[in-house]
Amino acid sequence: MIIKSAEFIVSNSDYMKCPDGGNPEFAFIGRSNVGKSSLINMITNRKGLAMTSSKPGKTTLINHFLINNQWYLVDLPGYGYARRSKEGREKLREIIEDYILEREQLVNLFLLVDVRHEPQQIDIEFMEWLGENEVPFSIVFTKADKIGPVRLKSNVEAYKAKLLESWEELPPVFVTSSEKKQGREEILNYIGQIQSELL
Ligand code: GTP
Ligand code: MG
Repeated sequence: MIIKSAEFIVSNSDYMKCPDGGNPEFAFIGRSNVGKSSLINMITNRKGLAMTSSKPGKTTLINHFLINNQWYLVDLPGYGYARRSKEGREKLREIIEDYILEREQLVNLFLLVDVRHEPQQIDIEFMEWLGENEVPFSIVFTKADKIGPVRLKSNVEAYKAKLLESWEELPPVFVTSSEKKQGREEILNYIGQIQSELL
């Protein structure tokens, strides 16, 4: 899969106002600050396409980026940002959940987790919710550049082992670093593969 063009189309709080046309969508979700927007920039090779910040809570809307005039990468707000008000968190939860459950164009969700940390309750519960609702997803470990190769391997293995306590099968798993452009080909190939199965 080669990226020939990548353009920002629109930001929305309502999935119903997202672009028409039925083009397939690949969306990125995960805790605030995990690196969703950075990953979109890394995959598209366009610095500054999606807005990033060192402070959590940057992305607050559903952002559509049209790729090769054919399909969308979708940047979603993060969940679990404790310093937002209860109402603010509820509102974001609604935006995210409605998009994920109702958006027919969504073909795959990439769930990002920071590879430095042990499995977090909030992510495990989110995956269970995806499973209950039969939402196809894959797991993307982020920030791989922040730890050494030995810890990286053991963290990924420990995470998979934890998931296998409650899941019969693992979803596809990717290890990435937006900083080092690691995992780009793998994710793009996977997106290409899903699209060829849609035809
Ligand atoms: P919200 O929009 O707030 O939910 O956050 P986000 O998940 O979109 O995170 P964002 O891409 O804005 O990145 C958060 C911070 O992590 C920024 O300071 C990024 O530079 C940093 N970051 C993201 N990915 C990587 C990575 O692979 N390696 C390193 N070292 N830093 C990263
Ligand atoms: Mg963001």
